Amino acid sequence: MSNARPRSDALVFFGATGDLAFKKIYPALQAMARRGRLDVPVVGVGRSGWTTEQLIEHARASVTEHGGGVDEAAFGVLARQLRYVDGDYNDADTFTRLKAALGGATRPVHYLAIPPSMFAKVVEQLGRSGCTGQARVIVEKPFGRDLASARELNAVLREAFPEDSIFRIDHYLGKEAVQNILYFRFANAFLEPIWNRHYVENVQITMAESFGVQGRGRFYEEVGVIRDVIQNHLLQVISYLAMEPPWSTNAEAIRDEQAKVLRTIRPIQADEVILGQFAGYRDESGVAPDSEVGTYAALRLHVDSWRWSGVPFYVRAGKSLAMTATEVLVELRAAPRVFPEPAPSRGNHVRFRLSPEVAIAIGARAKEPGEHMTGVPVELSVVEPQEGVPGRMGAYERLIGDAMVGDTTLFARQDVVEAAWAIVDPVLQQPPSVHAYEPGTWGPAAADSLADEVGGWNTPGDGRG
Ligand code: BG6
Repeated sequence: MSNARPRSDALVFFGATGDLAFKKIYPALQAMARRGRLDVPVVGVGRSGWTTEQLIEHARASVTEHGGGVDEAAFGVLARQLRYVDGDYNDADTFTRLKAALGGATRPVHYLAIPPSMFAKVVEQLGRSGCTGQARVIVEKPFGRDLASARELNAVLREAFPEDSIFRIDHYLGKEAVQNILYFRFANAFLEPIWNRHYVENVQITMAESFGVQGRGRFYEEVGVIRDVIQNHLLQVISYLAMEPPWSTNAEAIRDEQAKVLRTIRPIQADEVILGQFAGYRDESGVAPDSEVGTYAALRLHVDSWRWSGVPFYVRAGKSLAMTATEVLVELRAAPRVFPEPAPSRGNHVRFRLSPEVAIAIGARAKEPGEHMTGVPVELSVVEPQEGVPGRMGAYERLIGDAMVGDTTLFARQDVVEAAWAIVDPVLQQPPSVHAYEPGTWGPAAADSLADEVGGWNTPGDGRG
């Protein structure tokens, strides 16, 4: 977006030899180089005992696997900018060497692509070594483990950085399809009159993944589905769906509205959440044999705002489900019956497919050709075949670029993060027991009844009519 300030003059990322860097950061850096935007030193910090040459080879493997292949020209730029600092994050010497590697850079951005338990230590060492002066910091989600720890973590960061230099990443906010929810809502006048409790019957969000925890068992044991994707990605999506119009596209105006609407969501009650765990999860490496961590959650939320009071918001997310798809379905109330339809029909809907394809669809009923005044459900849709269109900016490229120019719009502000934790906190403090489900299904049967009152869960892509 366009809330830029002075550009960072170096990019440092901790966790350079880790999973996130491999999957997301090197591909984003190659893409930035391709666009001519990687003109500052890039310093990777890690604890693997590697050399810069080894790190460059690692980056090459990363873009081969996750970045659409090596673009020799762009990769060459990245390789020339890249340097590696190896060392323990507890050791002051690591940070002295980092400072040296930064050369004359005075406004670096430090990306903490490391487990949250190490944030405080690294921030403290950055401060002591004189690396925080005019620096910015990017932190990965989940930001804290619950409301109290998010506040503690924030206090640590705020000792070293002002709020407008802290970039709490939620890569969902960098997705085109998620930004489009915000744009589509407020760029089209036809939507506003119906986008409220008078016309909307319910809202459903499904984030289904057909794969399991993919070797991230240890990480997943610490987070579980609610901290992994609901407290952040899906509540951010809900904030865009449910918020009031911001008075400007300025970062604070948008985030003010996000915080406001999240504060109107009631903290989840035990009888409105079902947790599940796929069979086989406990056999994953790094997972306790008696783990009670949820890999699936289904919840019913209540947005107690003037606009949404009485409209249930259903959310479900899980690993090892029947398909990979993220979709929002906003169902409108049914029209009164005039035509003698043979079967009861549902109301119209607006459907946002967020991944892997991207679509906006309006669901309606149209007359079926023939003698009778009966209808069929139809959808008017605009579809992009897949999420990562080549040449288009990916979420991580966009977010790293935004952080480097100081634009906080697509990052979570502390009050937004706290409002989101407050919603899920009761379940985190007293989690209900998990229901087992078979991989490849739609999760535990117990979750079905949660959405019974609105005709059950929407299957992504169904566009039920
Ligand atoms: C991450 C979660 O934040 O988001 C993962 O840690 C999840 O568990 C991923 O798979 C989904 O993101 P995307 O962009 O692949 O849909």
